Amino acid sequence: MIRLTDSEFLEFVKYMHDNYGIDLSKKRILIEGRLSGLLDKKGMSSFSQYLDSIKNNSKDEITMLVNKLTTNYTYFYREESHFDYLREVILPIQEKENKTRTLNIWSAGCSSGEEPYTIAMVLDDYFKFKISQWDIRITAGDISEKVLSKARKGIYPKDSLGKLPDSYKKRYFKMIDSNEYEVIPEIKKYITFKAFNLMDSILERSIYDVVFLRNVMIYFNSETKRNIINKIYDATKPGGYLLIGHAEALQRDKSKYIYIKPAVYKKE
Ligand SMILES: C[S@@+](CC[C@H](N)C(=O)[O-])C[C@H]1O[C@@H](n2cnc3c(N)ncnc32)[C@H](O)[C@@H]1O
Repeated sequence: MIRLTDSEFLEFVKYMHDNYGIDLSKKRILIEGRLSGLLDKKGMSSFSQYLDSIKNNSKDEITMLVNKLTTNYTYFYREESHFDYLREVILPIQEKENKTRTLNIWSAGCSSGEEPYTIAMVLDDYFKFKISQWDIRITAGDISEKVLSKARKGIYPKDSLGKLPDSYKKRYFKMIDSNEYEVIPEIKKYITFKAFNLMDSILERSIYDVVFLRNVMIYFNSETKRNIINKIYDATKPGGYLLIGHAEALQRDKSKYIYIKPAVYKKE
């Protein structure tokens, strides 16, 4: 195994923090473990050699690095209380108050798509035939091209559907073979997957009714977190919601969102 020197380690930490907000300062073993096989394959003998190709902005190398160093763990219907909240609180309010019948939802850090597809299924199940009266746009972004390409395909092993209600499994997937299931086009059509780095400027202003930013901030330090939350706040519609992972929290005095309950915030 190729060893990472102290200075190479610090360079990786700085690169990932400055460009993607991800704090790997306590993840030396992860960096070494996930990258040394790749270096071997490339016939490189040191991490410095690899760092040089990254610094030369080789797009393929950078894509590969991000694919390797992000943690993309996710599953359908994860933290289901958010989906209950969507169904029981957010959507009834929208039905009553949203005169334009346009619903913009952002799944930020969507990984391989299980989160935005679950959102689309909940919407379809809630509105039923009335869904055709709505203009529904779910934007799903991530920095890893690898997970985005899996998300766009929408094909998942049977086991990963585990937590979804049976009625969803039946209605929203078609079986490809005994182990693989594909999300149906009627659900896929609501979602636009795109590469997006939360460190970049967010140009949209006050457009999102709901932002899912779940289990992404765990990798950010508090300053990066604060900056990203402020940008997302500006992109949220007044009356809109921010949903974060239950293991995460906003510093209440530093955020303009109001706290509703654990992992649920609102823009007044
Ligand atoms: C653990 S997954 C969470 C997926 C999903 N939101 C959930 O809760 O199951 C975190 C995702 O955030 C993405 N991510 C990390 N830093 C990011 C950044 N700066 N911009 C956009 N996505 C990022 C990672 O690539 C990864 O796919």
